[in-house]
Amino acid sequence: MSNFNMKDIVNLSQNRWFVFQGSEIYGGLANSWDYGPYGSLLKENIKNLWIKEFVQKRSDMMLQDSAILMNPQVWVASGHVGWFSDPLIDDKNTKERFRADKLLEDLIEKSVDSGLYLHDKYGVTNLIPESWSLEKQTEVMRWEWVKNPNTWVAGDWTDAKKFNLMFRTSQWVTDDSSATIYLRPETAQGIFVNFANILRSSRRKIPFGVAQVGKAFRNEITPGNFIFRTREFEQMEIEYFCEPGTDLAEHARWKQDCMNFLTNKIGIRPESLKFRDHDADELSHYSNATTDIEFKFPFGWWELWGIADRTDFDLKAHMSESKQDLSYFDPVNNKKYIPYVIEPSVWLTRLFLATLIDAYTIEEKDEETRTYLKLDPKVAPIKVWVLPVVKKISDIAKPIYDQLTEDFVCEYDDVWSVGKRYARFDEIGTPFCVTIDSNNYDEWKVTVRYRDSMEQELVEISKLNEFLREKLR
Ligand code: GLY
Repeated sequence: MSNFNMKDIVNLSQNRWFVFQGSEIYGGLANSWDYGPYGSLLKENIKNLWIKEFVQKRSDMMLQDSAILMNPQVWVASGHVGWFSDPLIDDKNTKERFRADKLLEDLIEKSVDSGLYLHDKYGVTNLIPESWSLEKQTEVMRWEWVKNPNTWVAGDWTDAKKFNLMFRTSQWVTDDSSATIYLRPETAQGIFVNFANILRSSRRKIPFGVAQVGKAFRNEITPGNFIFRTREFEQMEIEYFCEPGTDLAEHARWKQDCMNFLTNKIGIRPESLKFRDHDADELSHYSNATTDIEFKFPFGWWELWGIADRTDFDLKAHMSESKQDLSYFDPVNNKKYIPYVIEPSVWLTRLFLATLIDAYTIEEKDEETRTYLKLDPKVAPIKVWVLPVVKKISDIAKPIYDQLTEDFVCEYDDVWSVGKRYARFDEIGTPFCVTIDSNNYDEWKVTVRYRDSMEQELVEISKLNEFLREKLR
């Protein structure tokens, strides 16, 4: 793998119109990002492939799109009002804010025998600081003189306190009163609350699943690493409803389907991905099994896709809070039950980042260095770049561009030398360039140039669309 770091990815993203800093002309807004012309197309392509693979090609899956603003009772039932929080701690010296559990995780990682030591000194029974009480987290932070990671000096730590991650807003109820509502922190609950509607309208038999893509918002204490962890992000989530007892087999199947999608459809290399099954003490109390697909980011292996067996936890919680019947009647076996659910959940924006990183290629050839994005043609933002070798033949080049835009997202470029233009298209990950010159045009042909091999081939203009369609299949 080529040697590069996040700075290279951020630079390429900004210089090549993939991702810009949000509100840049006002100095930006911390941790907000805008997707530029090529970034938007790449994100759309990933999303459309996901919909194609998990909805269009499967008779047991449906798509839905629920509202971002929901009745606040939804978040009471789901547990987000009560439990969706991180332990926040401030360094009084610098007024900086951190996640206490993350600083404690770092402390544990650095010390080989921390398990025994922390158990003996503080009486902790596991090495998952997130599960310790806030008092215990504060005690260890202070007595172990945990350093502020920015100053490398022991912090003057406040008490750790719970910080709910949901963004609050308010909605007018009458002219002078409003109610607190939330920006959804996940799309998943929009599927659970529609379970009865979907069952009624689709008449599906279990097992079946519902997919949804959309924005979600979390007021993270420490977002970062470019678009890896952001307060506003897009999720692609599936809730797959199945009969209790079949859930572990369904979970195993979904694990594999998600991995196959990443390697076969998005084109991420298998060596950049691995499964990580959650240990028993890491599992939520309601989960029968959870697996993360992790990706090798330049800053380490991190979760890309979580596949959780959530049992009947969510439907039961909504039944209890809403007093509606969310059970399923199985007409074949004549029995009624609350379905279990498998939840494969991935952030579209994080998958976008992983796709860029995995495609980033630095190649040394004939003492020259070429940097380009080896994107799978299916996800590449621009499929074909059309370039007349000289500006003056635009009258023959433009109709060829028009012919190609019937089928592909293309760009037309007649500025700079052809060599310089190729370098730019390669950096954006364009798989094909169509070069037009008068000599070949006289024989009704154009040159197709391939990004990865840089080889070229003559193709008849009348067969060009079909030729490229085949390559993009
Ligand atoms: N629904 C799971 C998640 O948002 O991570």
